[in-house]
Amino acid sequence: MRKPAKLILAASAVAMVLGTMLTPVSAGAADAENGKKLAEDRKKGNCTSCHAYKGANMPGNAGPPLVAMKARYPDKKKLRAQIADPTKANPNSFMPPFGKHNILSGKDIDDIAEWVHTL
Ligand code: HEC
Repeated sequence: MRKPAKLILAASAVAMVLGTMLTPVSAGAADAENGKKLAEDRKKGNCTSCHAYKGANMPGNAGPPLVAMKARYPDKKKLRAQIADPTKANPNSFMPPFGKHNILSGKDIDDIAEWVHTL
């Protein structure tokens, strides 16, 4: 009985390693490309209606242009927090608090922050 048990253990170890190798990198990790899509989707982030950025299609200017974000927000968490709840930094902000009001999911905000950090 011992040998088959060991075999099963070995086989499951191999399966685990293979499984990790086959899992797409995007699962769990923030996805900037998806973040851009969400940001430009009128029913999702709709960030373009208020923010200009490189390559934006007819952006609005109610908010500041999103430029040099990595330099200005070296800590991606702070950038994420600004998107999740702008009222923390500015109680009178009229930028929608995407996280606080559950307008976007946590994963959506992760992806958008990942994208904004590339601008
Ligand atoms: C209704 C207009 C509006 C929308 C929509 C909007 N914002 Fe804003 N945003 C603002 C304003 C206004 C500010 C300036 C700071 C403040 O008042 O909170 C701002 C500030 C920011 C900042 C800080 C910029 C800086 O210079 O420090 C970031 C980052 C940001 N917005 C990202 C986003 C993202 C990402 C989205 C979409 C998910 C978004 N905003 C949607 C109006 C908007």
